[in-house]
Amino acid sequence: MEKITTRADMRHYAARHGAETGFVPTMGYLHEGHLSLVERSRAENRRTVVSIFVNPAQFNDPGDLEKYPVDLERDFAMLRAAGVDAVFCPPRAEIYPRGVPPLQMAYPDLMRRLCGAARPGHFEGVLLIVHNLLQWLQPANAYFGLKDYQQYLLIKKMALDLEFTTNIVGCPLVRESDGLAMSSRNVRLSANGRTQALALSRSLFHAADLWKNGHTVAELRSALASGMASLRTDYAEVCDAHTLEPLHDKATRKAQTLIAVAAFVDDVRLIDNVLID
Ligand code: PAJ
Repeated sequence: MEKITTRADMRHYAARHGAETGFVPTMGYLHEGHLSLVERSRAENRRTVVSIFVNPAQFNDPGDLEKYPVDLERDFAMLRAAGVDAVFCPPRAEIYPRGVPPLQMAYPDLMRRLCGAARPGHFEGVLLIVHNLLQWLQPANAYFGLKDYQQYLLIKKMALDLEFTTNIVGCPLVRESDGLAMSSRNVRLSANGRTQALALSRSLFHAADLWKNGHTVAELRSALASGMASLRTDYAEVCDAHTLEPLHDKATRKAQTLIAVAAFVDDVRLIDNVLID
């Protein structure tokens, strides 16, 4: 497995292999959710490149950035075992040689919803880094998890509007056997917090059942609220999966509905969602 640490070497890699490369951007501390993207990329491309970069531009809370788990050696071992061809793991100064630029790409209507409302500047930072990574590597395909559904939607739109040649692929959310959505942040949960965190997925599954059985949006919202009552909740929403606008009534059922939640457990912010076709 090749290790690439500079933008110049990323560009060289792009010139030689970009067109046959599938790309999986990450912030490291890898788990099965990340590896499911790697697997998909390996199935669909001759080469797979993974990036590991904890992007300071997307952390609106400096404490969250400081506490973000890092274990590069463990990540490398996992990626090697998964058959990854190259890993891009640059130091911060390589990515932001002049500091994080104030340049902002924004979709105001989408970004004021869900995580965008709770984390000002977060998605601007995500779009900036993903834009740059895709420019440097020029991969044929790039893989993103639907665990971060709003992120996926924004990246998909950016790639369309900026006419990237890279195809943006959304991949299913991967869960622990008890339902908890896999996340690098789960390692920061106490044993008690780990149990409490199940309220997110349980509330979502219950709401999805209610939805399938024809209950109203109001009934879903109140079920979500009571399921999450023990947690400090950021949002618990039922929305149109394309616009992220909250649905107000059963009559507004859309072809694709997103039920999404975000809550704090042990001061760790967790997100989860269920997408209903
Ligand atoms: P990170 O949180 O490390 O996630 C990297 C990729 O793995 C994202 O596409 C995310 O949606 C996906 N992922 C994480 N947990 C998952 C799960 N349980 N099931 C399926 N996919 C999962 O998302 C980021 O990093 C960053 O914002 C990034 C895109 C790398 C830009 O910095």
